[in-house]
Amino acid sequence: MNALLKIEDLHVNVGETEILKGVNLEIRQGEIHALMGPNGSGKSTLAYTLIGHPKYEVTKGRIEIDGVELNEMDPSDRARLGMFLAFQYPVTIPGVKVADFLRLALSNVRNPDRKEGESLISMREFRTELRETMKQLNMDSSFATRYLNEGFSGGEKKRMEILQLALLKPKFALLDETDSGLDSDAVRVVSEGLSKLAGPEMGVLIITHHERLLEYNEPQFTHVMLAGKIVETGDASLAHELHANGYDSIRKRHPEEAAWEEQQQETAAK
Ligand SMILES: Nc1ncnc2c1ncn2[C@@H]1O[C@H](COP(=O)(O)OP(=O)(O)OP(=O)(O)O)[C@@H](O)[C@H]1O
Ligand SMILES: [Mg+2]
Repeated sequence: MNALLKIEDLHVNVGETEILKGVNLEIRQGEIHALMGPNGSGKSTLAYTLIGHPKYEVTKGRIEIDGVELNEMDPSDRARLGMFLAFQYPVTIPGVKVADFLRLALSNVRNPDRKEGESLISMREFRTELRETMKQLNMDSSFATRYLNEGFSGGEKKRMEILQLALLKPKFALLDETDSGLDSDAVRVVSEGLSKLAGPEMGVLIITHHERLLEYNEPQFTHVMLAGKIVETGDASLAHELHANGYDSIRKRHPEEAAWEEQQQETAAK
């Protein structure tokens, strides 16, 4: 049976402010979903909340995978259940090599009961797997010996994310793609990488404004977020329409959320 990620009436606060105001979403393993919406509508907030970032407080609603509630789980336990977030702004962890980081992450995912300090998967097994995966993705083997995200270009950060996806094989991959600062090569790395990896075993939520990403990875579902709610869901044609025409028609069809959005922006400007 394909696993199901279910998000039910999710309300999320950052500090005193409610950012998500009742999000409903279901993603099955094997499906590709696109999440779109204007800046500040809450897309990244949803991604961070799903992975369990401590700054985002769930005040109401449920996140579950196959009926198991995730609300109170810490990020590493969520990862063990198959959730993966490719960060919009990957962090630099000084002094940690790509290969070491991947070996630790893989050990945790392969052995869900592993405690901190317990042994990792064998170096030999890991090296073989890493080598094969990198070959499959046309990556240079020297990449594995680099320090994590230190001096990585935008494109290299994206390669790192795709490599993580390929090795960890999460059930649910959340990709939060920034539009600014990525050149077309970097976008191609993600698009092609993802299209190689996505399949019946992976449910994907792509947050993007990039038409290109969705061309390689046509979503079965497109969701539009406005003022902390998913206000519309359609197929790939909805994504194409929004790329072509922007969000004005969405705002017109959902005046209440549009008013919320305006109010939020006014508060932010003060
Ligand atoms: N950690 C935080 N601290 C303070 N405010 C936050 C935080 N995270 C999100 N917000 C606020 O929540 C709202 C939604 O932000 P979010 O980053 O989720 O939007 P987004 O849809 O991802 O936008 P973009 O398309 O620009 O990436 C914004 O008003 C933002 O300022
Ligand atoms: Mg964002």
